[in-house]
Amino acid sequence: MAARRTPSGTSAARVFLARHGRGVAPAEAAALYVELGWGTPRDYSAARMKRSLAGCDFVAYARNGVGELVGIARALTDGALDTKILDMIVVPEYQRQGIGIAMMRKIEAAAKGTAVYFETEPKNFGFAAKCGYRRRKGLTVFVKKV
Ligand SMILES: CC(C)(COP(=O)(O)OP(=O)(O)OC[C@H]1O[C@@H](n2cnc3c(N)ncnc32)[C@H](O)[C@@H]1OP(=O)(O)O)[C@@H](O)C(=O)NCCC(=O)NCCS
Repeated sequence: MAARRTPSGTSAARVFLARHGRGVAPAEAAALYVELGWGTPRDYSAARMKRSLAGCDFVAYARNGVGELVGIARALTDGALDTKILDMIVVPEYQRQGIGIAMMRKIEAAAKGTAVYFETEPKNFGFAAKCGYRRRKGLTVFVKKV
């Protein structure tokens, strides 16, 4: 369900990049994940979300004109070869306004000199292509919760 938030269009959102999630409160990040259907509040306790943000090398995020969080992207890098975008979210009413691509650019600038990996579903392939990403053939993602 959409959160009660200032409607899009009142003023342009701004995009930032922070190391280790500074600038994003764990609760507001958790709220976005839950809103987008990526788990329930139980999955994102304040302590866990705080560790997650602090553990990320880069967190790009967007705030609307009144400072509400409307987008977030978390990334890890080895600082030399590879960077991996863990996830990227723009809240529905702020999508298609250039926020996703702006967050991508922030991460790319911070990770310059590395190969950036962005894993996503077919519905976002147009976005990935627009951002300049090409599909890497022959790889399938495996996951195991430990
Ligand atoms: C994927 C996502 C982050 C894109 O964010 P966004 O802010 O809407 O993207 P932008 O406005 O920066 O899009 C830039 C360009 O990408 C392309 N694009 C974006 N979304 C697209 C879509 N659904 N279908 C086709 N092209 C798309 C367009 O060319 C767009 O430019 P345009 O609007 O001028 O045509 C956003 O749709 C989202 O949060 N989705 C839900 C969560 C998710 O699936 N995250 C990705 C996997 S982790």
